Amino acid sequence: MKGVVLAGGTGSRLYPLTKITNKHLLPIFDKPMIYYPIQTLVEAGITDLLIVTGGRNSGDFLRLLANGKQFGLKHINYTYQEGEGGIAEALGLAEHFVDGDKVCVILGDNIIEGSIRSAVEDFRRQEKGAKILLKEVHDAERFGVAEIAGDSIVGIEEKPKSPKSNLAVTGIYMYDGSVFDKTRTLKPSARGELEITDVNNAYIGEGSMSFNYLEGWWTDAGTFDSLLRAANLVRDTHPKHGRSPVLAEVEGE
Ligand code: DAU
Repeated sequence: MKGVVLAGGTGSRLYPLTKITNKHLLPIFDKPMIYYPIQTLVEAGITDLLIVTGGRNSGDFLRLLANGKQFGLKHINYTYQEGEGGIAEALGLAEHFVDGDKVCVILGDNIIEGSIRSAVEDFRRQEKGAKILLKEVHDAERFGVAEIAGDSIVGIEEKPKSPKSNLAVTGIYMYDGSVFDKTRTLKPSARGELEITDVNNAYIGEGSMSFNYLEGWWTDAGTFDSLLRAANLVRDTHPKHGRSPVLAEVEGE
């Protein structure tokens, strides 16, 4: 399975912090934000990675990450998103890299406490379709929100004013090779972006979307409050190192 980290966009909600650097290079406690989603994929056994960057500081990703030695990798692939046409547009740039394989996509500002390894293993066994990871939250209106009926997911609404559940769709998505047929048919939403929620609803419409519940804490880091929250969660969870044991391990500590 391939891995894609989406780190494009302008980070306008974090202005002026993002005036002179890319949001995903900002610190989360003692590490740049992008380290965490990379680590999540590597820990799950996904080591063939593409990073989608954008904006004025994309060269800094190469200087920071190089070939990924700090994660135990030998090579990292990079591509560039012009503008900020949305998460699904950024994913569309990964088509050649994914090349018909399955892919696990993670948003560059999503940070988790635990592991996605077992969900990834489940998806390796899933014949076709997609899988998303859900998390209970108290501010569901900030996210894509899942509607569940019995054991099935019946739909996702993007940032609804009156959420139908408290289950946020986290920024960790697993897709089969048909995902790029779906991204190609999308039309921009009211906010002018190609929405990943439309991709996920297409899989739900086909009856091929599965879901797992994410264990441990989950946060994005795209607003001032969530950026601070993410740093505090990382520090409080790993008070000794301020980093997950996985990263400490790959760094040889
Ligand atoms: O964090 C989970 C949420 O992420 C989901 O619940 C929502 O359904 C999903 O739409 C998304 O919501 P946000 O509005 O918070 O996404 P945001 O625009 O902040 O983008 C999140 C990341 O996606 C960002 O850190 C980098 C990447 N991205 C985003 C855009 C708009 C790109 O690579 N390119 C883009 O054009």
